[in-house]
Amino acid sequence: MAEKSFKYVIVGGGVSAGYAAREFANQGVKKGELAIISKEAVAPYERPALSKGYLFPEGAARLPGFHTCVGSGGEKLLPEWYADKGISLILSTEIVKADLASKTLVSAAGDTFKYESLIIATGSTVLRLTDFGVQGADSKNILYLREIDDADKLVETIKAKKNGKVVIVGGGYIGLELSAVMKLNNLDVTMVYPEPWCMPRLFTANIAAFYEEYYTNKGVQIIKGTVAVGFNSNDNGEVKEVKLKDGRVLEADIVVVGVGARPLTTLFKGQVEEDKGGIKTDAFFKTSVANVYAVGDVATFPMKMYNDIRRVEHVDHSRKSAEQAVKAIFASEQGKTIDEYDYLPMFYSRSFNLSWQFYGDNVGDAVIFGDNSPKSENPKFGSYWIKDGKIVGAFLEGGSSEENKAIAKVAKVQPAADNLDVLAKEGLAFASKI
Ligand code: FDA
Ligand code: NAD
Repeated sequence: MAEKSFKYVIVGGGVSAGYAAREFANQGVKKGELAIISKEAVAPYERPALSKGYLFPEGAARLPGFHTCVGSGGEKLLPEWYADKGISLILSTEIVKADLASKTLVSAAGDTFKYESLIIATGSTVLRLTDFGVQGADSKNILYLREIDDADKLVETIKAKKNGKVVIVGGGYIGLELSAVMKLNNLDVTMVYPEPWCMPRLFTANIAAFYEEYYTNKGVQIIKGTVAVGFNSNDNGEVKEVKLKDGRVLEADIVVVGVGARPLTTLFKGQVEEDKGGIKTDAFFKTSVANVYAVGDVATFPMKMYNDIRRVEHVDHSRKSAEQAVKAIFASEQGKTIDEYDYLPMFYSRSFNLSWQFYGDNVGDAVIFGDNSPKSENPKFGSYWIKDGKIVGAFLEGGSSEENKAIAKVAKVQPAADNLDVLAKEGLAFASKI
């Protein structure tokens, strides 16, 4: 079994790893010093593409088109880029054991990797219905989406089940993005989720009402307030029916499940301090263990703006946290300091012709503004969240890049808002003045 040593190792080869690699290069990492170890077979890519362009029926996005760091307008880092910089991309390699005391990682094939500094960037994995013991949940064509292999399986199944019926389980990000793209593939789509409205961890009832009606107008059927409790399959083991808790039974040729994710921290259990389900870090993404950093989905970090510690499962943070950690590593080597991470939460989604962005915190009272008729040709509406007399969060559907910048500024500056009726009337004009 081989043993290799590197000054820096990143375990995980997703979004954070790609943005970290670019920052290592900016900071002047020397050839041979850095390795990225990833269980995926391809160089880091922009994961959000998998639930959007990758599944389009025509003109679908494919690698190398969406390697990092193209998602934020940067140069695409192709495998040749890593080779040119002397960064080892160790792909199709799952780390199955990590010993932080001896600074050693061991792969499934039994190879050993030693490091001086480690960045944990293992991201999240999907929650599976089999984890909850749902009857028949291991039937064929019950699919999940996290990695490119999952997306390839979806593409194959969409082809095999042309014009078939899809049931989407879950009304969060995956549920909303996948039901739209499945509809674009001309499949018959039904969404099922337990809550009274979709995306309840961010949307208010008002915001959700727009998307639910828009989706319904596109032909997506929505069943709320119940869950899938079992699946029936045919003689080939392929899913055929979804049994709901309320007694209904839905026909299905494909089931896509998006019922949440879990950060991949298992390798490090008992070796590093954890909080809120993630690995606890400081404002430089340093963990409780010297020379070990954690970034992206796995990090529970100080959210300076809200005097709180949080974990964020979104791409903007995975990029920025990776850059911050690498800057901090180089600064500490040079005996310098850098500013603390001061993150303004930013989430976004796209489906059909829709596109929204959200900045800040969705707490307090919410007001809605603008044209939120799902029948409008170009709906443009938003929401502000107001807490203790200040605007702390802002959402905008259909905004231009200037308008999105304006709502970001509102969430950052947190201007006073005394009269919610006036604010609702002013809407986007209020943001433009800040
Ligand atoms: P990420 O999941 O990107 O990478 C983790 C990597 O580690 C993977 O390559 C994995 O294989 C590897 N790994 C894990 N364990 C390992 C081990 N033991 N050994 C070796 N390798 C290991 N966000 C957003 O803001 N807007 C959006 O539109 C979307 N869209 C979106 C679509 C889909 C389909 C998903 C799944 C997610 C999104 N997201 C998103 C969320 C966003 O993609 C996510 O927050 C980031 O990818 C997190 O980056 P990380 O680098 O932390 O993990
Ligand atoms: P999510 O947390 O956004 O949504 C999960 C949904 O499933 C919720 O509505 C939840 O109540 C529902 N649910 C839970 N149990 C259920 C059950 N038994 N039956 C039916 N519904 C059930 O998680 P997700 O949509 O699975 O996304 C997974 C990960 O991928 C997250 O980290 C997410 O942030 C990320 N992601 C983000 C984006 C984006 O930011 N645009 C897009 C895709 C994925």
